[in-house]
Amino acid sequence: MQQKFEFEYDLLDNSSQLSSSDQELLEAAKKATETAFAPYSHFKVGAAARLSSNAIIIGSNQESASFPVGICAERALLNTVGSQFPQEKIQTIAISYEPVGKPSVEPISPCGMCRQSLLDYENRFQSPIKIIMAGMSGKVMVLQSATHLLPFGFDGSILK
Ligand code: THU
Repeated sequence: MQQKFEFEYDLLDNSSQLSSSDQELLEAAKKATETAFAPYSHFKVGAAARLSSNAIIIGSNQESASFPVGICAERALLNTVGSQFPQEKIQTIAISYEPVGKPSVEPISPCGMCRQSLLDYENRFQSPIKIIMAGMSGKVMVLQSATHLLPFGFDGSILK
């Protein structure tokens, strides 16, 4: 039997169409690009999480001279939240990027490994994480759940 997977997302013309709380979060993600260590790719990524306490935590990509050892902004962020605030749910994550010397006007799209980590975190608390993706300017994409980034993702239920 043929099946269909579909979901709805928002594509906003610009960040002023976000709520003020989400605008603040996206600004934090943009600012977090300044903390990236990206001497090899020159592609600085920033991510920011809004916790259930309302606090904002940031992460950025941290590269390594041994390239595969580097970590993306999203996973750096999730590792920080999981380590420092293990009891807190993440309500929303915003992600942005600043490629040195190039424009940043399209929404960023997280890599597959980060999609898995976002899904893992969502499953940890059984609570959807809203995901806001943007460049430093331009259109903003808003998804209501990490499952939309990774349909048929491995959720570990088969391990139990
Ligand atoms: N990167 C992220 O931090 N997040 C993404 O969503 C895409 C890619 C990083 C990894 C590497 O440091 C650089 O961007 C270029 O791939």
